[in-house]
Amino acid sequence: MVEVPTVTQPPHAKVPERWALITGCSSGIGKALVGQLRGRGWGVVATARALSDLGALDSGPDLLCKALDVTDPRQIERLRMETEDFPITALVNNAGYGQVGPLELLTEDELRRQFETNVIGLHAMTRAFLPVLRRNAKRPGDARVVQVASMLGRLSIPLAGPYNASKHAVVALAETLRLEVGPEVRVILVEPGAFRTRFRDTLSKVWGDLPERVKGTRYERILEAHMTTREAQNQRWGGSAEACAARIAKAMDRRRPPRRLAVGKDAIWVRHLKALLPEALWEWLLKRTYGFR
Ligand SMILES: NC(=O)c1ccc[n+]([C@@H]2O[C@H](COP(=O)([O-])OP(=O)(O)OC[C@H]3O[C@@H](n4cnc5c(N)ncnc54)[C@H](OP(=O)(O)O)[C@@H]3O)[C@@H](O)[C@H]2O)c1
Repeated sequence: MVEVPTVTQPPHAKVPERWALITGCSSGIGKALVGQLRGRGWGVVATARALSDLGALDSGPDLLCKALDVTDPRQIERLRMETEDFPITALVNNAGYGQVGPLELLTEDELRRQFETNVIGLHAMTRAFLPVLRRNAKRPGDARVVQVASMLGRLSIPLAGPYNASKHAVVALAETLRLEVGPEVRVILVEPGAFRTRFRDTLSKVWGDLPERVKGTRYERILEAHMTTREAQNQRWGGSAEACAARIAKAMDRRRPPRRLAVGKDAIWVRHLKALLPEALWEWLLKRTYGFR
């Protein structure tokens, strides 16, 4: 994987004419995308749940930092009002996390929380800002909605049921939105493979008392192996957040952006493999990879 340098100094001293709003900029792909877009001349409204997490971003006339939890409708409405004067033409729904755990042990609340952020939050932001994007677009096709899904929005792996389900829902929402909004708003569905971000640290934070719940079940050994070996492999072989963000920024800049952007070699070949293999063989491969019998 080619490493892409971090863009630290925005070369544009003027207030830009086009702005993008990004959710989840405290780390990872969202944070990297702030620099990549600024480097391409965009102004960015960078948002994070804790405003202090945006402190490391270089200040400038092309950056506005705001607090936003995408699960809080009042914060979304406040953000919409506070950014009224900014010519925002792109919304990047990047905020998200992964809830792991075998479905048999997963509580309804855990599943609900996963959907609140990854699906309902993304939908609420889209609804709130679509009128803004339409209003600010100077020409048809200028507006962009970027929905960050995952390669797990097209296929499902064991132990990531809630996340798989939420990202399949994001794919469905993006594809439906594209059919409905018309050509004046371009909907870009981003499907990353594995990238090195805080994503995998968060996995273990949100699993709560799962280590207790798995004790004595068929999942105990499998989950432990999953969280150590496999995640270490991802961390080692995954691409950088900058590389992923650079691809997204480039796509957003195109006059005719792609409908779908699979980022990372794994995101491309795993999907092809799934399409080619008989279902029973595909399942056997996945179960073997994840230590299931
Ligand atoms: N990394 C990968 O391998 C990978 C692969 C496929 C798809 N993705 C997707 O890419 C997106 C970015 O993830 P990442 O890899 O960059 O992980 P990350 O470093 O953990 O970043 C996730 C961001 O989402 C934010 N977030 C979580 N819940 C939120 C909420 N309720 N409201 C607002 N922000 C919230 C986090 O903020 P806090 O710091 O406040 O928690 C953080 O800024 C996610 O949608 C993820 O599903 C990642």
